Amino acid sequence: MSPSRKDLFPAWYAGLETRHLKDLKFAELRRALTALSSVYVERRSAIIRGAALDSAGKRAAFAMFYGPLHFLAVSHVLGELKPRKPYPKRIFDIGCGTGAAGAAWAVATGCKPSIRGYDLHPWAVKEAGWTLKQFGLDHSVARRDVSRAPMPGKKDGLLAAWVVNELREETRNGLLPRLMESAETGAEILIVEPVAKGAAPWWDAWAGRFEEAGGRADQWEFRPDMPESLRLLDRAAKLDHRRIKLRTLSINI
Ligand SMILES: C[S@@+](CC[C@H](N)C(=O)[O-])C[C@H]1O[C@@H](n2cnc3c(N)ncnc32)[C@H](O)[C@@H]1O
Repeated sequence: MSPSRKDLFPAWYAGLETRHLKDLKFAELRRALTALSSVYVERRSAIIRGAALDSAGKRAAFAMFYGPLHFLAVSHVLGELKPRKPYPKRIFDIGCGTGAAGAAWAVATGCKPSIRGYDLHPWAVKEAGWTLKQFGLDHSVARRDVSRAPMPGKKDGLLAAWVVNELREETRNGLLPRLMESAETGAEILIVEPVAKGAAPWWDAWAGRFEEAGGRADQWEFRPDMPESLRLLDRAAKLDHRRIKLRTLSINI
């Protein structure tokens, strides 16, 4: 990994604080994070109605809290998967949110892949553009449904991080064969999901398809090296991310 790019994480995180704390007090951010986390854990059916990003506070909490954690988690996974370098040349980040996970993959390649981000939410599209700029990555981000996102070719990668569980069933079912077709051409694919069982009744079937095609299904647990203020926010909101568990499906990586 290029040290200069890896070192951009603290600068990016400091930029997030400046960007999102200018209109929010710490206590407001903490409350918004609690509300956002409750949508992800207890009110999952509300996600499809857009409840996760429906207020400025929740959007700030997503950008400042989950974005950096997703960056750290994807960095960890790629460190363990030891991808063949210097690929991919382009990364298609579907359901890119704030762009953090795609940026982590780009950083892990040690080269300068360009990123094509797609998300339904206009705020996410804008925020992802900002994130990718902080990492000096060539990028384009568009407002587009996953079902209409282009699929990667031979030298490309596709990332779907914490998004497949948010898709409507028909969108999810339509995505799997398209991913498998791309994988056959040699495209690298990485799916990242939380471990919570209720969130992904489709997981075993997807894992089976990845494994049959020569890919792998993994579960990970690691201690993220969080910035101090992220740690404080985690504790203040009574979450506990001192250890993060996640699972991935990957192929050609
Ligand atoms: C939990 S966030 C994860 C964001 C990002 N991948 C990350 O790892 O931080 C899920 C994202 O998927 C987006 N999303 C959900 N359904 C989508 C769809 N059908 N098409 C495109 N984006 C979608 C949401 O707007 C949200 O930004």
